[in-house]
Amino acid sequence: MWKPSLFLALSHVTSVAAQISASNLQVYRNSLNLDSPFQHTIPAYWTSYPHHRRTPFALAPNGKTAYLAYLDASGKGVHVHKVDPNTYAATGTTVTISNGKEAGGLVAHNDGFALLTNEAMPTGTASAPPGTTPVAVLYRYTDGKQTWKTWLGGPNLHPKEGLSMSADITGDLVFSEKAGLYGAYYVVTDYAGWAKGHSADNIQYIGKDGVVQTIRGATSSWGCSHNTGIAFEAADAPPFASACAEDHTGIWLNTKTQGMSGQKIANEACYHVINGATNSAMGGTSGSYSMLARFADSPSYIFTWVSRGAVNLVADKFLQGQTASKARWTNRHVAIAILKDKSTLANGPATSKVGSVDGDSQVNWITTGKSDHSNAHAATFDTYTALLSWEEIAEPGCPYDAMDCQGNFSGTHFQLVSSEGKIIGTSFSTMNVTVTGDMVNMPDGRICWPFVDMVWKLNGSPKNTGGMVMVGGPRPPTTNKMSFACMKKP
Ligand SMILES: *[C@@H]1O[C@H](CO)[C@@H](O)[C@H](O)[C@H]1NC(C)=O
Ligand SMILES: *[C@@H]1O[C@H](CO)[C@@H](O)[C@H](O)[C@H]1NC(C)=O
Repeated sequence: MWKPSLFLALSHVTSVAAQISASNLQVYRNSLNLDSPFQHTIPAYWTSYPHHRRTPFALAPNGKTAYLAYLDASGKGVHVHKVDPNTYAATGTTVTISNGKEAGGLVAHNDGFALLTNEAMPTGTASAPPGTTPVAVLYRYTDGKQTWKTWLGGPNLHPKEGLSMSADITGDLVFSEKAGLYGAYYVVTDYAGWAKGHSADNIQYIGKDGVVQTIRGATSSWGCSHNTGIAFEAADAPPFASACAEDHTGIWLNTKTQGMSGQKIANEACYHVINGATNSAMGGTSGSYSMLARFADSPSYIFTWVSRGAVNLVADKFLQGQTASKARWTNRHVAIAILKDKSTLANGPATSKVGSVDGDSQVNWITTGKSDHSNAHAATFDTYTALLSWEEIAEPGCPYDAMDCQGNFSGTHFQLVSSEGKIIGTSFSTMNVTVTGDMVNMPDGRICWPFVDMVWKLNGSPKNTGGMVMVGGPRPPTTNKMSFACMKKP
């Protein structure tokens, strides 16, 4: 009987000793030559503060081929590069989806990939969106050739519920081999039907043949009103795990409900319902990837976001029975929530009690102090540990209450946490690695992601003048190279 207890004691010692440090980080700087220039910085909604333009990254199940997607610097055409997951250099020919407007989500297969983007419908399409407003669309490529293309908006998708378009994707694409389904969760504005002129989101499931499947209790043609952030991760069966940030009350684990309901992950101070950003909780502009990750061989997930905390709950005027709140801090902190399974929070939901002074006592905070934290991401190493990353501004200026902060970038932090939500060791930071695309599990146990090698600046104008302040002059800079970084499990 002594053996198991000795084993437990040893593994306890190991987990206490393990912590992430700079020696776990491996960098493949400028390893991938891009065929076309990429404008790597995008002005954030409302503030125009600089955000990373997202570069979706995915690895095929056989571990042999990775893909990186990025928007052409012209603003039209999404390029998908085949990447060698050993050298992070280009391999094979690049596919270009010539009408794509955003690299919105990428799934890698052994024989190709699927890309979620948005594009204008062909001229002359009956009941197409006004102007040339794009519509979400899913492409499947096999061995470099288009196998199918499925519109996820426009006249043929849920005409009874109303027709939708997607000027931005703000969402993600996932695939479940067990379910045999793609899931796409993305923001929409309806241009016909009862919700004409209003913004919300869609969750659509698509078979391997490219056919949209309407699944009761999983498919959604509406959902979170003014959705400002999406977290989406595959499950063994639909509904897939999902969370949304809306600009009335907060963030919802809406796997079961697909709406502004389910289990409330957090009260969030939103203030400007019409111009909401919910603090860029899930990355805001060009975010909404690698926020929600499943632990290996487990029903459990980890979700991360940034928040200003919540105090002084009052009845929300829009969502009956729900609460609006005020911010606890002007700066934002990194928070995590552990999910017991795809639709259940391990520590229970946030309070909805009107009059409550504390609106965030359930939140598991990862950071403290006066720094601002943004661009938070999570990935899991195995069944028991997860990697968090975020960016920091040590002395932030935060003139906008529900938006981003600005100031001198003071590093990308990496932190190990357990599947119970416990912080393991301390974080370390670096000034020359960022996270701009999906954090992906590699066959050797590492977690790898893409980024652009540059001097990253989070400085912006203190007034909402719409000008990005960036290296390289008034025009957003471009790059012809991508870099990759990998974290080894300690
Ligand atoms: C930000 O960086 C600039 C240039 O390095 C420096 O002059 C300024 O004092 C810094 N601001 C803060 C708040 O640290
Ligand atoms: C990146 O920063 C680390 C310290 O955070 C430093 O050791 C390394 O030399 C830097 N690399 C480059 C290429 O600047």
